[in-house]
Amino acid sequence: MTERRNVNVRQTTETPEETAALGESLAEGLTPGDVVGLVGELGAGKTCFVKGVAAGLGVAGYVKSPSYTVINVYEGGRLPLYHIDLYRVSSSADFDSIGLEEYIYSEGISVIEWVDNVVGLESDCTVIVTLKYAEAEGAREIKIERVKSKE
Ligand SMILES: Nc1ncnc2c1ncn2[C@@H]1O[C@H](COP(=O)(O)OP(=O)(O)OP(=O)(O)O)[C@@H](O)[C@H]1O
Ligand SMILES: [Mg+2]
Repeated sequence: MTERRNVNVRQTTETPEETAALGESLAEGLTPGDVVGLVGELGAGKTCFVKGVAAGLGVAGYVKSPSYTVINVYEGGRLPLYHIDLYRVSSSADFDSIGLEEYIYSEGISVIEWVDNVVGLESDCTVIVTLKYAEAEGAREIKIERVKSKE
């Protein structure tokens, strides 16, 4: 099944490029409606990973963190990409007032930084990516898990 490709991966990356490459390979196996939640501290490499996902979907142009705008929409790739950053959204009430459901329940790909800021949102994710600082300078431990298959 294509949607099971490139998931359930655990890898240590040594550079931002390697982290982006993991995102790029995840993107190859994503299908309409996938929701990818990213969990990791400040600077762990979430946006770097999303840049790779965008590249893997064939999105042209510069991908930057939507931490002020909450969502950036990229069309023109294999599937629409909704890059959501919940850094400044810390409650379910805030989240509900923004109206992101239409993206999350769409046929595009949603990728959500700081998904763990909103209680219960992880249960809407089909893939969870956890990024941690590893001991070596510039190294990150990255775990990619498919947590839910789509009906
Ligand atoms: N192995 C690595 N993978 C990813 N980024 C790395 C790595 N090593 C060093 N870095 C650096 O760490 C930083 C990661 O920044 P990035 O914006 O991707 O993090 P983030 O998790 O999105 O942070 P924020 O919580 O602020 O959104 C970049 O400056 C990048 O160059
Ligand atoms: Mg970020």
